[in-house]
Amino acid sequence: MQATITLLPGDGIGPEIMAEAERLLHALTHLTGHVFQTHRRLIGGAAIDAVGQALPGNTLASCRQSDAVLLGAVGGPKWDDPEASIRPEQGLLQLRQQLGLYANLRPVKPHPSLFEHSPLRSERLAGVDLVVVRELTGGLYFGRKIALQDMAEDVCRYSREEIERVVRQAARLARSRRSRLTLVDKANVLATSRLWRRVTQEVVRAEFPDLELEILLVDAAAMHLLSRPADFDVIVTENLFGDILTDEAAMLAGSMGLLPSASLGDSGPGLYEPIHGSAPDLAGRDCANPFAMLLSVAMMLEHSLGLVDEARLVESAVHACITAGQTTADLGGPMGTREAASAVLERIGETVVGRRKPAPARPIEPAVAVST
Ligand code: NAD
Ligand code: IPM
Ligand code: MN
Repeated sequence: MQATITLLPGDGIGPEIMAEAERLLHALTHLTGHVFQTHRRLIGGAAIDAVGQALPGNTLASCRQSDAVLLGAVGGPKWDDPEASIRPEQGLLQLRQQLGLYANLRPVKPHPSLFEHSPLRSERLAGVDLVVVRELTGGLYFGRKIALQDMAEDVCRYSREEIERVVRQAARLARSRRSRLTLVDKANVLATSRLWRRVTQEVVRAEFPDLELEILLVDAAAMHLLSRPADFDVIVTENLFGDILTDEAAMLAGSMGLLPSASLGDSGPGLYEPIHGSAPDLAGRDCANPFAMLLSVAMMLEHSLGLVDEARLVESAVHACITAGQTTADLGGPMGTREAASAVLERIGETVVGRRKPAPARPIEPAVAVST
């Protein structure tokens, strides 16, 4: 197959981990024959520096014409001036909104070899396998904003339709898994949360009566995520709560450098990116963990390109590297960004070449006369 992919390296460690995603795509082309036509474009701080805009027109146009978009990370201290009229993060937010990517899937499945790396005790981590479906184009992020000298305002607004469509996505996902859906809201305080609760209950009752629906207030959910993480299957929640809870959930897996994500709409290209940021503390030092980026490529292969076997191949290779301790320092390993990614590529190569080898010839057995 042939696919067109826009690459948005961004800022900080973004270009370093994107370079490894590109090498992965080249390796897959070499091994499988699938052709990935890639176009690099500017976003975030790099775009502000080059053309004065966080999401230049040609970047958005390239994304629209692609089958999928891969993003590294945006932002950093260089562009953090609170007086600045334009911020790198606006580029990412505009991109999500412009592409209509309302459902952000963030899977969390701690690897047993990394239980020691989580601040949680191992017995709490056994069996954890959850997906947070974060609403991505509404809420506080996109409501009306006022910023005066001594007063500021961010409006949180959600419509029934915005809630229904993301709840349906989450419910369909839950149905394909363990059939448990958890809504996280703050309905004891927020009007928007009361709408979320009413709409979610209606959608589940009418269209997904087979699902078990649990409802938690966000403050308690933050606690339950640590005290009983294995109980969760699919969690659906609004934009800001999903952002916060998934950084917390990254600690179940052991590092921010492990969690991938897929942002999907009803049509058009999906956007795939690690959940972590530009990690300015690690940038330029070849020490960022590339696995969240490589696993984001796997999500892209599965969700946008229909290459499920290839996605599993990438995931298995990353898991094998983790088992073997071929990791970066955040996971206690001795490797740099490039070396850890190379270890993944090597394993993918070995698996594909191993599959191609003819089965070893069996010794010819003497014919056996069967008598009855
Ligand atoms: P961050 O996610 O960049 O870093 C938080 C912590 O996690 C740091 O200690 C960092 O070293 C570590 N970390 C992150 N990625 C890692 C990786 N791949 N390997 C090993 N360790 C890793 O969050 P922050 O420091 O709060 O934000 C830095 C900048 O990134 C800000 O400008 C923020 O707006 C931006 N940001 C961007 C995105 C995005 O582009 N999707 C996401 C989050 C934050
Ligand atoms: C994320 C990030 C972004 C968000 C920022 C950079 C706008 O934290 O993708 O999790 O808050 O959505
Ligand atoms: Mn975040």
